[in-house]
Amino acid sequence: MAPTTHRETLRDAASVITGGGLVAMPTETVYGLAADATNDKAVARIFEAKGRPQFNPLIVHVTGIDMAEKFVEMNATAKQLAVRFWPGPLTIVGPRRADASVSLLVSAGLDTVALRMPDHPTAQALINATRRPLAAPSANRSGSLSPTRAGHVEQSLGNRVDFILDDGPCVIGIESTIVKVDGEQVSILRAGAITREDLEDTLGRPLAAPGSLTKPQAPGMLESHYAPHAQLRLNVKTPEASEAFLGFGDITDDSPYALNLSVGGDLREAAANFFAYLRALDTLCENKHLNGIAAAPIPQTGLGEAINDRLKRAAAPRS
Ligand code: TXA
Ligand code: MG
Repeated sequence: MAPTTHRETLRDAASVITGGGLVAMPTETVYGLAADATNDKAVARIFEAKGRPQFNPLIVHVTGIDMAEKFVEMNATAKQLAVRFWPGPLTIVGPRRADASVSLLVSAGLDTVALRMPDHPTAQALINATRRPLAAPSANRSGSLSPTRAGHVEQSLGNRVDFILDDGPCVIGIESTIVKVDGEQVSILRAGAITREDLEDTLGRPLAAPGSLTKPQAPGMLESHYAPHAQLRLNVKTPEASEAFLGFGDITDDSPYALNLSVGGDLREAAANFFAYLRALDTLCENKHLNGIAAAPIPQTGLGEAINDRLKRAAAPRS
């Protein structure tokens, strides 16, 4: 369905959720496809709408530490991170409480639940209005680019979503960082908007290496993810004439098929533009019959780690 403004319609969106439906909600990272996390059928509809493999668990969005503690054993380390980074783009994976009322589908067979308190007034208002925790993956078909505008949701999911809350572009533009808390050990399952340096500064110690990868621990760990239709070539300083170009900083191109993530080389600006620009170049490739997208090198510091992670997976061979 078509995007709509939220002010008059928040109540309608909330009733879609409490009725077991799906609402695309803005967050500070990307748009999420939200459903009542305590309703099995509603959560099942998320998997169906996304075409998502069942083994991928979902992030549950909460109003804060109090709600989080109903679903996860929040130990001192988990609380320390939540106090520092919530509301905000940090997802904390911790042990699922035996009496957690969220659907077993959100854990997808794991004994953990992933929780996040979004830093976005509309997302918070929706959770408050429904008084439910909201399961919400990114609001795109599984494996394709994440939506940072309401229009992207409509393009990707169309009538598979019951309601789209349009609150303009997402400020951060890259998904949350997912950390697993295991006792005092914290490891990054998916690089994201909170950097490794931010986490290590808060904890006062280095992060642990991610655990066994026999089962995908986060979808970002599937080789090919966030894929555009066009082929993507990385670390390119000079694109071919037949290629669209995703530039960064000084590494730019004045062809009509080039966009620069941030002329000033600002990684925050680059993250905010990332998915929208990749989408735009993907469309350009199709319309102008170009051979693919070339992308400039991005420094592997701060938010660059998350951007490079998305680029690497977008360029991986498709299965
Ligand atoms: O910024 C974000 O994180 C956005 C917004 C909407 O909050 N959400 C998002 O969700 O990116 P999604 O589903 O596209 O990616 C989150 C991933 C899951 O697919 C899953 O692999 C991982 O988080 N995850 C969820 N629960 C987990 C768990 N219990 N253990 C390990 N990973 C988990
Ligand atoms: Mg996603």
